[in-house]
Amino acid sequence: MKHHLLCTFSSFLLLFLFSYIPITSQFPFGSSSKQAYDHSNVTCIESEWRVLLQLKHGLKDESNRLLSWIGEGCCSWEGISCHKITGSVLKLDLRNTVPLYSDGDYQCTNCLGGQLSPSLVNLTNLRYLDMSSNNFSGIQVPAFLGLLKNLRYLNLSHAGFDGEIPHHLGNLSHIRYLDLGWNSLSTKDLGWVAGLSSLEGLVLSKLNLTAAQDGLQSINMLPSLTILDLYGCNLFIHPHLSHVNFTSLAFLNLGKNNFHNYMVPPWLRNLTGLHDLRLGYNNLSDPTHGLFDQMTSLVHLDLFLNRFDASTLKSLCNASSLTYLDLSYNNLQGSIPHEIGQFPKLTNLLLSSNKLNGTIPTNLWQLTKLQDFDVGDNSLTGVLSEDHFAKLRELKSLDLTGNFLALNVSSSWVPPFQLRRIQMGCIIVGPRFPAWLRTQNELEVLYMWNASISGAIPSWFQVVCDDIMILDLSSNKLTGNPLEFKQLKHTSSRYAVREIFLSSNNLTGSLKSFPLDISYLDLSQNFLTGHIPQLEVGQTSVVYALGSLFLNDNRFTGTIPEDLCKLKYLYFLDLSNNLLSGRVPLCLGNLRDLQFLNLANNSLSGQIPSSLGNLRRLSTLHLNGNKFVGKLPTSMQHLKNLQMLDLGDNGLKDIMPAWIGESLSNLRFLRFQSNNFHGPIADTLCQLSLLQVLNLAHNNLSGFIPHCFNNITAMVSGLYGDYAIEAQASLQDIKGGREFEYLQGSLPLVKSISLSANNLVGEIPDGVMELVQLQVLNLSQNHLTERIPDKIGNLKQLETLDLSMNALFGAIPESLSDLYSLNSLNLSHNKLSGPIPSGNQLQTLTDPSIYEGNSGLCGKPLPNNCSEHKSPTKNGPIDDDEGHGESDWSWFYAGIGPGFAAGLSGVLGILLFKKSWRYAYFKFIESACDKIWVKTTRPRRNFR
Ligand SMILES: *[C@@H]1O[C@H](CO)[C@@H](O)[C@H](O)[C@H]1NC(C)=O
Ligand SMILES: *[C@@H]1O[C@H](CO)[C@@H](O)[C@H](O)[C@H]1NC(C)=O
Ligand SMILES: *[C@@H]1O[C@H](CO)[C@@H](O)[C@H](O)[C@H]1NC(C)=O
Ligand SMILES: *[C@@H]1O[C@H](CO)[C@@H](O)[C@H](O)[C@H]1NC(C)=O
Ligand SMILES: *[C@@H]1O[C@H](CO)[C@@H](O)[C@H](O)[C@H]1NC(C)=O
Repeated sequence: MKHHLLCTFSSFLLLFLFSYIPITSQFPFGSSSKQAYDHSNVTCIESEWRVLLQLKHGLKDESNRLLSWIGEGCCSWEGISCHKITGSVLKLDLRNTVPLYSDGDYQCTNCLGGQLSPSLVNLTNLRYLDMSSNNFSGIQVPAFLGLLKNLRYLNLSHAGFDGEIPHHLGNLSHIRYLDLGWNSLSTKDLGWVAGLSSLEGLVLSKLNLTAAQDGLQSINMLPSLTILDLYGCNLFIHPHLSHVNFTSLAFLNLGKNNFHNYMVPPWLRNLTGLHDLRLGYNNLSDPTHGLFDQMTSLVHLDLFLNRFDASTLKSLCNASSLTYLDLSYNNLQGSIPHEIGQFPKLTNLLLSSNKLNGTIPTNLWQLTKLQDFDVGDNSLTGVLSEDHFAKLRELKSLDLTGNFLALNVSSSWVPPFQLRRIQMGCIIVGPRFPAWLRTQNELEVLYMWNASISGAIPSWFQVVCDDIMILDLSSNKLTGNPLEFKQLKHTSSRYAVREIFLSSNNLTGSLKSFPLDISYLDLSQNFLTGHIPQLEVGQTSVVYALGSLFLNDNRFTGTIPEDLCKLKYLYFLDLSNNLLSGRVPLCLGNLRDLQFLNLANNSLSGQIPSSLGNLRRLSTLHLNGNKFVGKLPTSMQHLKNLQMLDLGDNGLKDIMPAWIGESLSNLRFLRFQSNNFHGPIADTLCQLSLLQVLNLAHNNLSGFIPHCFNNITAMVSGLYGDYAIEAQASLQDIKGGREFEYLQGSLPLVKSISLSANNLVGEIPDGVMELVQLQVLNLSQNHLTERIPDKIGNLKQLETLDLSMNALFGAIPESLSDLYSLNSLNLSHNKLSGPIPSGNQLQTLTDPSIYEGNSGLCGKPLPNNCSEHKSPTKNGPIDDDEGHGESDWSWFYAGIGPGFAAGLSGVLGILLFKKSWRYAYFKFIESACDKIWVKTTRPRRNFR
């Protein structure tokens, strides 16, 4: 009887393939035969009936799951099974079968909650107790459960329990299966486990075992263990096992732990009977090789996100029963080993995100059982034709994304498979629209972005799309009208919504109506015209799910329709760069979930509606490049979550309100350029300690530059906040007049101040010289006087410095030559005098115009040399400069390293000096094929 759990291996796998879904079916245990569990009309024992009523009384049952718990026949109540003859309760199964959505907020439909009545202990014959997938909102696991001596099966997983695991559970001497996973439980000592001598299945996933690292020693006392799930337990496996006892282990999950040295625990090799091994999310490697040499029984192997290499793959050769192999996000290099062809039973082969190159070996195409074939994000090459796929009849999911592959099949190709999921982004599928898609009747997910497809979308494709959940054809050259999406027909789940990405094509015509059953719609960067559609009468409910709407960069005209305000779950709305006019509808303020609102670069007019102040979750607001007039609504001070505010290039006329600094304490990016803001710059701005970009240029601001700028700590410290700026955000003109698109990667790294073209007077305060992280400082076109502070040399990160067109006087501080990153300097049209400092970076800035209009300046790169100005006591070295060619060159060489390179171009200069930028920038370039993942911030794995 010992190993009856494994009586048939396939059912075992079925049961545990989704190890987090507790077992639904009958679980046969020891002496009590299966028949004893019949739901029947045996009379139930009165005292037990009482216990159940007390249990019911303690439970919160908002969805009335216990409706049947009335009358006296408790054996026929929902979830209860009694002994056929004695009538005593053997089984209590109150597992919630409605799937849980823990998508940010923990949603629990159909959940039981409340308390577990202590009277439960009087169900003395209880063998099976399942309370999983409910929400007991942080109560402790009751210690009295340890008194249920006959319990064989206890499942409390996913049920919102909290606190320490009571050791009393160690008294459950007959227990065979114990699942406490996915609760906020922890334990300092797993010693109590050692007493569970009959235990065959132990699931402790997502429990905090940080303080119980030797727990494995206790688990090692359990010789009958066949299932062990320690996923996400914070294990270091420090106390290594000298001898493994649990050699009958068939299922082992050690995913997402923190193993020391990223080494595979050595005792793993001895578990030669494993059928199912999961080590995902560990960064593990196997430097000694041959990890799997002895594991010949493996059927399911999940090594997702580790650092295994091709030798690991080779050590699997003897595992001829392997059906599931996930080596995605590992360190596989070179070509796909042809050994893969030796797993004839393989159904799932997942090799994405490695460094594989070369062509796909021919024997791989002979794996006739393949259902899920994923080699996305490698560097594979070759042209795939109909012949390659000829034997893959079972294929359901194919991922070739992000390789140097091309698909070359005839327009009459009828593939042998019916795919549900196609991921062919960033490979060559075109130029013609793939006709074979017409044969795919089960399609749910289609990614063919950047696939070199051009021409019109054929009309038959409309039918293929009827039940599609994710469609991404962005970044092709598709023409014609945007597709229409009707209500989904064949979906079972009421949560089903689709995501449509058609951006960056050549679509024309108008958008007649919003697609139905949709949560994400991106039609940006096309040539769409006409009005933004109204919602169709009677169909508002099916568009309610819309959360993200991108219609930016088209040619939409007319006003913003009030209907948009009915999309009450909208959190991302981008209508920028269109031809929209009129006023912003007041009702936009009703969209309480809105976090990102971009209406930039249209012709919107009127005042900024004060209702926008209701958008309490807003983190990004772009209203720049419109015709807004009047004052800022004071209600905007309620936008406490605002991180980015761009109101530039409008006709706003107001003072700089003090509340910006007092209330919008999360602001990182503030741009008011080119409006009519007047009066002084409020000192309260200095309270914005997270501010990275301040652009108030081209207004009518007057008075002094505040002395307190050194309180803006984001510009002082090198720390970058965690940025929650979603999607690509564009900030114009913050880089010294150039237009610069900041993508998600680099935007958070910019630190810049621009106050140019105002009426500011007085000196440049020393406080500004403490902003050592500043990359851009533009104070040009004001009336600033006094000297350039000597401490300008502190601003070591400065790349752009523009102080032109002021009335600054005195000498240029020598420390200016310490600014190794400087690649754009303008000091023209001031009253500066004396010699231009030489050395280092300044040698690369050879354009004399950056100093022109200062009659008192002399020396290179100006044509006049300094000898006529020379004061014989002080300027000896400069005189030498004229006479000694050698020193001339030596300063040139001294500067050439950083200086010359930095002078090459703005971008390159930045990249060479700021490692973090460089990383971010090139990461973007490198992962151009990954853009969709960035945009949706959705890890690939979710698509499995
Ligand atoms: C339950 O009761 C019905 C009639 O009351 C009877 O026909 C049936 O056989 C009983 N079932 C069992 C399992 O005793
Ligand atoms: C459970 O048993 C204890 C002691 O046997 C008894 O005092 C208590 O009343 C019982 N509870 C129920 C609900 O029967
Ligand atoms: C896990 O427990 C340790 C101490 O036992 C504690 O320091 C740590 O914060 C806990 N981790 C989590 C994620 O709760
Ligand atoms: C193996 O299990 C036996 C019986 O449970 C126990 O006595 C022994 O100490 C265990 N060995 C190790 C190394 O833990
Ligand atoms: C693994 O097995 C080998 C040979 O059977 C044995 O010598 C060794 O002690 C075992 N290691 C562990 C940790 O059990």
